[in-house]
Amino acid sequence: MPNLIKISKQENFVSVVTLNRPAQANALSVKLLEELNHALETVTTDPTVRCVIITGTGDKVFCAGADLKERLEMDEAQVRRTVKLICSTMDAVQNLPVPVIAAINGAAFGGGLELALACDIRIASTIAKMGLTETSLGIIPGAGGTQRLPRIVGVSFAKELIFTARRIDAEEALKLGLLNKIAEADQLMNKALELAAEISRNAPLSLRAAKKAINEGIDTEIVTGLEVEKRWYDTIIESKDRLEGLQAFMEKRRPLFTGK
Ligand code: COA
Repeated sequence: MPNLIKISKQENFVSVVTLNRPAQANALSVKLLEELNHALETVTTDPTVRCVIITGTGDKVFCAGADLKERLEMDEAQVRRTVKLICSTMDAVQNLPVPVIAAINGAAFGGGLELALACDIRIASTIAKMGLTETSLGIIPGAGGTQRLPRIVGVSFAKELIFTARRIDAEEALKLGLLNKIAEADQLMNKALELAAEISRNAPLSLRAAKKAINEGIDTEIVTGLEVEKRWYDTIIESKDRLEGLQAFMEKRRPLFTGK
């Protein structure tokens, strides 16, 4: 059986993680989730990775969310376990130490959109459609959707999208601020790789510390948030790359960061 997750290492310290179950709309089966967790561990422990792109195989679907066929066969205890696994997987995506870009190559529904919401930045193909469809299926978003969507697009639009279970197109998602940008389908990966390269030429420790500072501070009030920022700033003061940044500025050249 082919791997349900592919990892490919690109130039510029970028790793691409691809959901590879196209015959079943890249739906999140237990097996795929287990492989995805393994892939996340692989990129986390690889010090040469500075940015991750998550995408889906094929040109129609990014991810159709929970595997509804598998779900039908489960008893309540199995459902609870699986929902917990999906949840912890999304948390693991959010907590990856490096910036993560979702390259949404097609439909992203339910858990598929929740996966993209757990990423730091979202780029979608102009043909992509997305939505949190759960209330139309007798459930609610259970992998962070009720929490991450309002933090990204604001409470009112998140409520509208979740209460209606509406599927919106990329253009509309861009207007709502759900997407950072859109690209023609055949340009999506190029655009994602360009953005990843732009990110990964910066200092690796700075990228990690900036991500931590934003994620840890965003849900606190500003005074605590500024303390969080200070704590993360302190961690990079002693880095070699900070001195390299200053040196390169003086010498009018590009810095050569080593992640130390
Ligand atoms: N779980 C399991 N299998 C799924 C699935 C899901 N969430 N979504 C799609 N599939 C399967 C289909 O049953 C079909 O399998 P089959 O060929 O064995 O019948 C295959 O994937 C392709 O899907 P299909 O609907 O034929 O392709 P499409 O390109 O016309 O549409 C989607 C793709 C994703 C738009 C559509 O399948 C869809 O809307 N899926 C449900 C998405 C959803 O609401 N997810 C929320 C889960 S909480």
